[in-house]
Amino acid sequence: MSSGLEFNDEVNHALKMAYQTPDIVSARGHVVEALNLIEGQQVLDIGSGPGLLVRDIAQQVGPSGAVLGLDMADNMLESAKALCSDFKTVTFKHGDAMSLPFPDNSFDAVVSTQVYEYVPDLNTALSEFARVLRPGGRGVIVDTDWAFPYWHSMDVTIRDRMIEAWKGHCEQESVPMRLPASIKLSGLQLENVQALPIMNRAYDEMNFSYWLSKIIAAFSIGRHGVIQDEAERWLADFEKLDTKGEYFFCINRYLFELTKPATF
Ligand SMILES: C[S@@+](CC[C@H](N)C(=O)[O-])C[C@H]1O[C@@H](n2cnc3c(N)ncnc32)[C@H](O)[C@@H]1O
Repeated sequence: MSSGLEFNDEVNHALKMAYQTPDIVSARGHVVEALNLIEGQQVLDIGSGPGLLVRDIAQQVGPSGAVLGLDMADNMLESAKALCSDFKTVTFKHGDAMSLPFPDNSFDAVVSTQVYEYVPDLNTALSEFARVLRPGGRGVIVDTDWAFPYWHSMDVTIRDRMIEAWKGHCEQESVPMRLPASIKLSGLQLENVQALPIMNRAYDEMNFSYWLSKIIAAFSIGRHGVIQDEAERWLADFEKLDTKGEYFFCINRYLFELTKPATF
């Protein structure tokens, strides 16, 4: 895990709120669609976080299927377990994406969303992903490129410093554009890549960027020269832009569809 973002209770709460916004509900819908699941399948979600995707997958694979959520943060595992407590087919396990605690070819489908920016080595994480997926199985990976958030701010200097500080939250920069090489090295077949833009024109709790701004502001204080007053001003300016109808945010997530060749 990166020495950057700590998945403490405050971040856990903001993430849970962010992940329930229509922006991310819709992104999860694309993930489930790309997995193309059928009833009875065994599915692994690496870095399952609050467990929202695990829940969606459990509905797809039905009572004869099984979903395993793996995460290395205990508080994430606890809230995910609570969220999925009504599904007998769901289990959660503590573990590391860098060294998956499963035999080769264990799952019909493997998914990992917004996790690979935190791993110390992308190639190792991808080879683990490939190892536990069965030949002929399907994989989906989603990651954001944090290098290019398009975010209107009244003070561009503060905005740039906040974004620069935020880059320190992860181990890996620009994961999406580096993934094709790691996927190739892992022996998986890259079938398709799609961009999933998140576009917000209002600064409110219903929008992903509202929660993201809170996480970034808390994280950035004391990093890259950002002081508390600046972080608070950055947030307050969003409220002002919103009042004037001038709030503007856009970022891209990228969804990778993979298969494991039958001859792997
Ligand atoms: C930003 S959250 C994404 C959660 C979930 N995948 C989603 O998209 O809703 C990142 C999650 O990855 C987990 N994580 C980070 N590094 C990990 C690793 N090396 N192995 C397993 N989980 C990891 C964190 O604990 C956190 O729950």
